[in-house]
Amino acid sequence: MGIYYKDPVFVLESQSSSYVFAIRATGHLEHLYYGERLEGLEGLSGEALYQCLSQPVAFLPGNTIAYSSEAQTLGLELLAQELSTDGKGDLRQPMVAIKQSDGHKTADFIYWSHHIQEGKPATTPSDFYQRLPQAYGSETEVQSLCVTLKDRNSDLELDLHYSLFYETNVLVRSAQLNNKGQAPVQVNKLMSLQLDYLESQMDLIHFSGAWAREMHVTRTAHPGGIWQNSSRAGVSSSRKNPLVILADPSTTESSGRCLGSNLIYSGNHQTTVERGSYGGLRLLVGVEPESLAQTLKPGASMVTPEAVLCYSTAGLNGLSQQFHRFVQNHIVRGPWQKRTRPVLINSWEACYFDFNEAKLLKLAKAAKAVGVELFVLDDGWFGERNDDKSSLGDWQVNLKKLPGGLNGLSAKIKAMGMDFGIWVEPEMVSRDSQLFRAHPEYALFHPDKPHSEGRYQMLLNLAEPKVVDYLFNALSEVLNSGDISYVKWDMNRVVTDVYSPMDHEQGQTALMHRYYLGLYALLEKLQQAFPEVLFEGCASGGNRFDLGMLCYMPQIWASDNTDAYSRLAIQRGYSYGYPPSVMGAHVATAPNHQTLRAMPLATRYHVAAFGLLGYELDLTKQDAKVLSAIKDQICQYKRLRETLQFGRFYRLPGAENSRQQGSEVWYVINEALTQGVLGLFAGPVPANESFTSVLVPHLEPEALYRLRYEAKKLDIRLFGDLINQVSPIPIAQDSLTQHLIAKFYQMDEESFECTASGSILMRSGVKLPQRFCGMGHNEGVSVFTDYSSRLYVIERL
Ligand code: GLA
Repeated sequence: MGIYYKDPVFVLESQSSSYVFAIRATGHLEHLYYGERLEGLEGLSGEALYQCLSQPVAFLPGNTIAYSSEAQTLGLELLAQELSTDGKGDLRQPMVAIKQSDGHKTADFIYWSHHIQEGKPATTPSDFYQRLPQAYGSETEVQSLCVTLKDRNSDLELDLHYSLFYETNVLVRSAQLNNKGQAPVQVNKLMSLQLDYLESQMDLIHFSGAWAREMHVTRTAHPGGIWQNSSRAGVSSSRKNPLVILADPSTTESSGRCLGSNLIYSGNHQTTVERGSYGGLRLLVGVEPESLAQTLKPGASMVTPEAVLCYSTAGLNGLSQQFHRFVQNHIVRGPWQKRTRPVLINSWEACYFDFNEAKLLKLAKAAKAVGVELFVLDDGWFGERNDDKSSLGDWQVNLKKLPGGLNGLSAKIKAMGMDFGIWVEPEMVSRDSQLFRAHPEYALFHPDKPHSEGRYQMLLNLAEPKVVDYLFNALSEVLNSGDISYVKWDMNRVVTDVYSPMDHEQGQTALMHRYYLGLYALLEKLQQAFPEVLFEGCASGGNRFDLGMLCYMPQIWASDNTDAYSRLAIQRGYSYGYPPSVMGAHVATAPNHQTLRAMPLATRYHVAAFGLLGYELDLTKQDAKVLSAIKDQICQYKRLRETLQFGRFYRLPGAENSRQQGSEVWYVINEALTQGVLGLFAGPVPANESFTSVLVPHLEPEALYRLRYEAKKLDIRLFGDLINQVSPIPIAQDSLTQHLIAKFYQMDEESFECTASGSILMRSGVKLPQRFCGMGHNEGVSVFTDYSSRLYVIERL
């Protein structure tokens, strides 16, 4: 296992994947293989290995271009490569595109040297304001390779960085261009990763949406030509997440080959998958080229963010699980990396902008009584912020609402036995704010041109170290002004009218990329200054849910949509590339504020429990029954949260005859295989599909497990006038009598308990109670109506 070189072949071998490429006689890097781990390589010489993995070319067909008179059978258009350029006959999209000062655009990168080392060196500039977030790992977890190439046509050098994380089968790649010449070179494109995957027929799985509708999964066969997934929103975006998966058409959740890519970056990105004219798919991943394009001065370097590549033969679940481990072990960092996350209450949907200290304390008291651990004060606590039209930038507490300041409020919350957190949106400034009046030049806008605003706000110019320092000081003051353990870091607009009035030297080049370098510098400074603070990212929900932000924030608010049914699709989408331990999920009120759908309280909880549980509703308005149910929920969640947040997560197929619209079966099991949770979620239920059995994966075959559902109470109103079939007295629907009876009398749900060996649960499955279908109702029947759900707890005996 590890990275080694056997002239002329490089082998990058992780626990279950191999990545192989070679240096051709001409110095080009030829990609040879990426896939399930190849065994028996020790006995083969480098030459023999090259011969069996490389595609022999005896002649160049038709009008393809021969690389040189000496290499008459080398046609770059036919060759699988580690990197590609324009102008030498490869007509596919290039990884690198440059223009020299004389206008010459052809580049031709040839092997020069390489270096293999244990661990993972930082490959980002040491200048604090130039650094990119990167994956990390110890010398026993990761090994790295750097291959340096030189352009035959210029003085450009290209470093290709590879870091191999053995256990998670992840290969992290990035590229660096160094101008070693005397003249500037225009770099129009520099992608982080190129993979010339040798197969042509793959399905593309991608994650798109909009505000409140993040991460909807689409799977299509590659359409031919060039397929693209990209964001030009200035954020990684809810429109198109940078995560992309390529899967064999036959790959399912539980079996088959697939590979996934992602980018450790939060701004504009691009992934293209191109089918070449001679077969194979070229995957290119990186920053959207126009957003990175710049002139490289003599002596200057340009570094891409890191792209992540992961391979699995264990289906989409296998791939997701590797991604989850990778995010948890090599992206998320700091004291919160492995800590279970607190159950929180967030004031937003409970109060919006309408609160004062007394109201917040009342909410906090109710939250404490049901077991909440962290009180989060959302938007509205600063400046004159009574709606979303003003005050971003004025990070001074509003003493009319909070006379004791953040200090006073946080002290009172702490005294109740809860932690205290706040909302901020530091990257923004409202036109109506003291900051904008004092420093309009801090905003990213053109002072003489009309500006299109989103939510009445503009971005601050984080490309300027001066603005970064200003924000660091302003935020440090806020964080020191009270006992603040948590920060929700919001960012509520996409980017338009990008222009920096301060950008005299750099002429607006790669401005949004420099914005992100500034943001990362700010976040790193804050992380160093306040290591214990738990940061939660947010961008109108999941408009910036990416590996870049996760390097600074151990968790991200997944969506402003708190409707549990919508959340099934959203959280399912995230689960392909991001673990439950980074996904904020709250129980909100019913009807829901985004969809007006009324979901059962239990389902709202069950869905949120597959993420980082929080509550976001006015607990002071809930009746005793609801509060007692919430108390039970939180109590159960605390018992299961280590497993729910950090266990191995599966998307399971239901075993119904047909897959029900919007239904989900989710399962999570801890590393020790001693505790698991199985969640069943219904969409609109079809009639008379009443039998459900589920194969429960990844248990100890010989061990005994108990699987249990504790019955809750059922509101008799659910049965409408059907109740008259069993009631001794007539009960008219919606009558006072019906409401009165419902108040004092509730029916029991089915209880369920089964003990079986792991092997039985894995191979024969668990047969769950028959579901209600209009007849034969008794205590063994599961009343599983639209949007119902069940959470089965599995304990090893
Ligand atoms: C955004 C966030 C919400 C909330 C509001 C406050 O929309 O996504 O969760 O914090 O801002 O203005």
